[in-house]
Amino acid sequence: MKSQDIRNTFLNFFKDKNHSIVPSAPMVLKDDPTLMFVNSGMAPFKEYFLGNAKPKNNRLTDSQKCLRVSGKHNDLEEVGYDTYHHTLFEMLGNWSFGDYFKEEAIAWAWELLTEKFEIDKDILYVSVFEGDEGDNIPMDQEAYDIWKTLVPEDRILMGNKKDNFWEMGDQGPCGPCSEIHVDIRSEEEKAKVDGKSLVNQDHPQVVEIWNLVFMQYNRKANGSLENLPDKHIDTGMGFERLCMVLQGVQSNYDTDVFTPIIREIETITDKTYSVQKPGQKLTEVEDKVNIAIRVISDHVRAVAFSIVDGQLPSNTGAGYVIRRILRRAVRYGFTFLDQNEPFIYRLVDVLIKKMGQAFPELKEQRQLIENVIKEEEASFLRTLDQGLVLLDGIIKGATSKEISGAKVFELKDTYGFPEDLTELILREQGYTYNEADFKQKLKAQQDRGKQASELKSDDWTVLVEDQEQEFVGYDTLEAQVKLTRYRKVTSKKDGELYQLVFNLTPFYAEGGGQVGDKGYLEDVHGDVVYILDTKKENNVIVHFAKNLPKDLNSSFKASVDAKQRYRTECNHTATHLLHQALREILGTHVEQKGSAVHSKYLRFDFSHFAKLTVDELNEVEDFVNARIAGKLPLQEERNIPMEQAINQGAMALFGEKYGDTVRAVRFGKSIELCGGTHVDNTGDIWHFKIVSEGAVAAGIRRIEAITSDAVKEFYFENNRAYFEMKDLLNNVKEPIKALQQLQEENSTLKKQVESLMKEKASSIKSDLKNELKTINGVQFLAKKLDLDASGIKDVCFELGSQFDNLFLLFAAEDNGKAILSCYISKDLVANKNLNAGQIVRELGKHIQGGGGGQPFFATAGGKHPAGIAEALKAAEGYL
Ligand code: ALA
Repeated sequence: MKSQDIRNTFLNFFKDKNHSIVPSAPMVLKDDPTLMFVNSGMAPFKEYFLGNAKPKNNRLTDSQKCLRVSGKHNDLEEVGYDTYHHTLFEMLGNWSFGDYFKEEAIAWAWELLTEKFEIDKDILYVSVFEGDEGDNIPMDQEAYDIWKTLVPEDRILMGNKKDNFWEMGDQGPCGPCSEIHVDIRSEEEKAKVDGKSLVNQDHPQVVEIWNLVFMQYNRKANGSLENLPDKHIDTGMGFERLCMVLQGVQSNYDTDVFTPIIREIETITDKTYSVQKPGQKLTEVEDKVNIAIRVISDHVRAVAFSIVDGQLPSNTGAGYVIRRILRRAVRYGFTFLDQNEPFIYRLVDVLIKKMGQAFPELKEQRQLIENVIKEEEASFLRTLDQGLVLLDGIIKGATSKEISGAKVFELKDTYGFPEDLTELILREQGYTYNEADFKQKLKAQQDRGKQASELKSDDWTVLVEDQEQEFVGYDTLEAQVKLTRYRKVTSKKDGELYQLVFNLTPFYAEGGGQVGDKGYLEDVHGDVVYILDTKKENNVIVHFAKNLPKDLNSSFKASVDAKQRYRTECNHTATHLLHQALREILGTHVEQKGSAVHSKYLRFDFSHFAKLTVDELNEVEDFVNARIAGKLPLQEERNIPMEQAINQGAMALFGEKYGDTVRAVRFGKSIELCGGTHVDNTGDIWHFKIVSEGAVAAGIRRIEAITSDAVKEFYFENNRAYFEMKDLLNNVKEPIKALQQLQEENSTLKKQVESLMKEKASSIKSDLKNELKTINGVQFLAKKLDLDASGIKDVCFELGSQFDNLFLLFAAEDNGKAILSCYISKDLVANKNLNAGQIVRELGKHIQGGGGGQPFFATAGGKHPAGIAEALKAAEGYL
């Protein structure tokens, strides 16, 4: 079976069992502080397990894109070295939300594998949770008894908490699970070693393919378990592994999911991927090439899908994880496949041929994916080149065969040069490095980062048992609310804060680029608590406050800061109009790639391949301002089916997770799916002004703009600056012309001063020659000169070209500042161990300053000219 058919067979099998097929959610998570990427099929459904929201059907099935590259489930370093781990993989899943439980989940899994896919029962093993004393959970007898009716008991294994109790992270929904393992070794090998003894032993041909999780607990922050409101089923089958089994191959990379990509890598690099027969040993070189090819074929998928989901490589957070994945691929290509030019972007084409049908978003964003990958590759290859030069310098300057850990760390930290590459190059030249020291430095840095970002949260204190929370902030900025739960969170950045949840709230939670509302609560006694921010967590609106209300059971008047909300709304509506303008003016290739809607400004990132011209920018501004002047009313539909909205022409964004029903926001011809808040009428925005346009990544432009009050301030400021300037120019009629004249005059004067200085320097030079005195065989002069820094430099180099054994220290005073310049001829640097950089640093102390430079020429500046005489006197001491 082709992989495409395998995926469809799975989905249709569960469709026939009354499951709705849903598309994969985007991989990058936006409202879950405990998780960066979707790491399992269940992550996008966490809110359903927790009872914060309800699905349209309590039976779902899908193939979810997962990324296991950070946090509790991180396989990055394994990828390439084995044949069955991936960064990005597809997890096939079927879900029951409070509907069927173990009985059906187990029976259907068995039916699908053994009847539909016709996998031989004799190569399957299953496992059952053995129980755990610490968590006070007994052995899963129920699952055992169900399995017993399907498989011989000697194929049922007992598993411990590590293997048979599934948790998505340190906190969250969890439960015991049953895994299904497959043994695809040859008969010969099976006869030698019993498959049972290889289950969960990292054998490449005895692997887990499906995990059936019986969700019934929630792991709390304090580590204890509580029962979930309902019991659920969460299953996850590794799609690529299933393909391996059904296609009768020995490795995920030998399935049709990967072979087209691998063939393309072979063609581009002129290397060969060696398909291993069971028991066959590869040479070291073959093995390295194989690993590199696996790394690249895996990583290109992860990076391409991330870009599609709106996560571009960057220097922080999720973007940095993606950048590291891509760099890992570049580095393997560079070292083991001899690739010095970008080439990974060329694999996007086959990837799309292979996956484009199941994931059409890949096709639609092809150009962007290729551009971003190519640019990243080129930039990292430059880094590698620069790193090689630096490393060469380090080796040349080494005093022992062991390079310090600090140097290797600096290469990594400052220049992005990976330590394993450093090690390889060092080894080739007979060097090693102090790994312990390196690791310690790395760990110290990671700990610092962790501390800065770590958010510790207590468990929720529940005042009123789960109610569905209502958001009333589209219609009102004030409401009477009751506190339903709260908890304390601590982070290095913000200190201690309280998170408050109400039965209903007018506060908008950060989302869709729009900032969270601020405001305050007032209880019946008149006590006030300020709300500093509002965010969404697993579909619950959480309010941040510095302290808890005194009377937790009071009813509160919750009031949103109306001014901030109004300004933010102006910017949000303007963002929609800007989006419309860009697509009309530049073309429909423009896709939103991120936005930030604040009260003071808006920022909009979009795909487009050239800088916007001044004319285009003007046109965009005019387009938006025409719609503001047109006073278009807000028309919103709060709860319409997704399909209906799309048919009406609403814009949906890649990387956004939409429910079955959506909110459509329309101003004239601009229609977007949007949960944000907006002005009632575009006329409220008053005016729109672009303040900057630039690039954020290859093929991604950014516009920053302001509206309403901010535009007034902008014009006011500019106006004030204009009149101040005019004033300084004595109120001339044409200030711009006057400024140009001043600039021209200034540049002429500068040139005159320079040439006068040169003349002066040359006359000084001939005088100085006669002043040189010989001390210990060195021609020496320390003197204050009436020249500027560049004049002094000329003098030094001029004298340097005429005399050997020369040591000069010149000083000058300029606008109350002191300058020292030291020149030492190269022979002295080499023979007498004199160093101008060090000398100016030391003498700089006399003038209360610092400086540096090279061993033969260095300068220092300081704020204490009175110290010049002493510095000059001290110079002689070096001889
Ligand atoms: N959530 C389970 C897993 O990821 C199915 O293994």
